[in-house]
Amino acid sequence: MTVLQIAGAVMRVRPRWYCHPRSEYATLVDEHAKGDDDPKLFHMIDHIPDTDERRTHWESVYELNQVDGVSWYQQAPLVTLELVDILGVEKDAGVIDVGGGASILVDYLLSRGFTDLTVLDISTSALRVSRERVGPDAHVTWVAHNLLTWEPAHPYDLWHDRAVFHFLLPHEIKVYQDLVRRSVAPGGSVIMATFAPDGPEWCSGLPVTRYNAAQLGGILGDEFTVVVQRKEVHTTPSGALQPFTWIAASRNLA
Ligand SMILES: C[S@@+](CC[C@H](N)C(=O)[O-])C[C@H]1O[C@@H](n2cnc3c(N)ncnc32)[C@H](O)[C@@H]1O
Repeated sequence: MTVLQIAGAVMRVRPRWYCHPRSEYATLVDEHAKGDDDPKLFHMIDHIPDTDERRTHWESVYELNQVDGVSWYQQAPLVTLELVDILGVEKDAGVIDVGGGASILVDYLLSRGFTDLTVLDISTSALRVSRERVGPDAHVTWVAHNLLTWEPAHPYDLWHDRAVFHFLLPHEIKVYQDLVRRSVAPGGSVIMATFAPDGPEWCSGLPVTRYNAAQLGGILGDEFTVVVQRKEVHTTPSGALQPFTWIAASRNLA
């Protein structure tokens, strides 16, 4: 709540957070410059915030919006489930959804019989939504932490990242690469999804980097083999179309 009040003091938030092209950003900024003080204008950040700013940003996103109203909302995580099947991930595999937010993926994996699930997110509000949805008895480990400063206690069999990596700055990519190598067991798998080269340039008021499948494979490096790639056009709750790049990769056995 305190976070919200702090955020409320510094942020003017459009009812729905969404991802959009820069041209729309320019229009909004121009309106603002003209003195249009429309409260619908939402706060834009032209840099990736540091940890505290980042946490405050994402907390306010989840505090101020319905989870089924944010642009990245999915009714069903169909591409992820398809890739999990292709990779042949076992039900007792250790699975971590990084930046999982309030995603319904954990519900689907539980209903498919997965028994070792971890959801990590910088926003406690997002995790609270998911935890209340699946119930207190669900076998899920909830980790409220900045991915970039987190240390895995043990390696996982599947690392899942939908729409988180694309927020990272160049100097943070190395941190992420090292983290993936420490977090994914030999023989384990990675599923990553980012905005595609023809996707939005901003999301939730933050700039993103867009990637094709070869670039994502390059991020994982030689220790991983890309098994499959997908192009998906996600439809947001407001009906906008957002092209995503997906890859599923396996970590080579040592
Ligand atoms: C666009 S949302 C995607 C959420 C979820 N993966 C999904 O597909 O519905 C990005 C998520 O990443 C989280 N996030 C952003 N930066 C993070 C960081 N440095 N560490 C952990 N989580 C982060 C946000 O809180 C948010 O839940």
